[in-house]
Amino acid sequence: MKVIVVKNYDELSELGASIIAKLIKEKPNCTLGLATGSSPVGTYQNLIKAYNNGEISFKDVHSYNLDEYCGIDRNHPQSYYYFMHDNLFNHVDIVEENTHVPYAAPGSDLDAEAKKYTEALNSVEIDLQLLGIGGNGHIGFNEPGTPFEQETFVVTLAEKTREDNKRFFNSIDEVPTHAMTMGIANIMNAKSILMLISGASKADTVVKLLKGEITTDFPASILHKHPNVTVIIDEAAYSKMN
Ligand code: GLP
Repeated sequence: MKVIVVKNYDELSELGASIIAKLIKEKPNCTLGLATGSSPVGTYQNLIKAYNNGEISFKDVHSYNLDEYCGIDRNHPQSYYYFMHDNLFNHVDIVEENTHVPYAAPGSDLDAEAKKYTEALNSVEIDLQLLGIGGNGHIGFNEPGTPFEQETFVVTLAEKTREDNKRFFNSIDEVPTHAMTMGIANIMNAKSILMLISGASKADTVVKLLKGEITTDFPASILHKHPNVTVIIDEAAYSKMN
């Protein structure tokens, strides 16, 4: 695991975007695993800038998102489908059919959709998987206790996760109780992984990630077993390491 400590969120976002832009330049038809949450927003903004400057094109890029809330429409502003369009897809030349977000809208057959997503993932190779990390060490929505062999599935969200994410909703009651997520095994299949961690609220999480043992109680710990992981951490998130 390669750890890079940067000053702040802006630097993290510039570096994150430059790593992804470099891959797109080297391999214009690469497959990206994408993430939501506040951690990658600045990275997406810098990628949009690079696209507008003519440095990169997404026209042959394929993407697979990590996760999606269950039971909210795709046009709900808090759906991850909406998030991806709002924060990246609508601003670059990516082809809609080449983008994939797990489908978990009301009325969908969740188990069938999860199976379909795993099959789709098994038919491609993700060149770079972007990740944030939950306060409890979750990756995607793989909560503590998820087996490392898990493939795409429907998860009951931990109360800590619903609490952390309630800031995006009007009240805790509106935060979905379930989500569909790539499993840890799907994530570990990626050729390379880029994790972004920012802010003082993640300082304890960083200590557990970097100093803790590998355990399903802290899902991100499995990344120590992956051969090509880069973690970019800003000083605030790294503040309890010294
Ligand atoms: C959500 C997402 C994760 C994300 C995490 C951290 O729960 N499912 O993929 O990494 O939150 O979010 P943030 O980057 O906003 O701290």
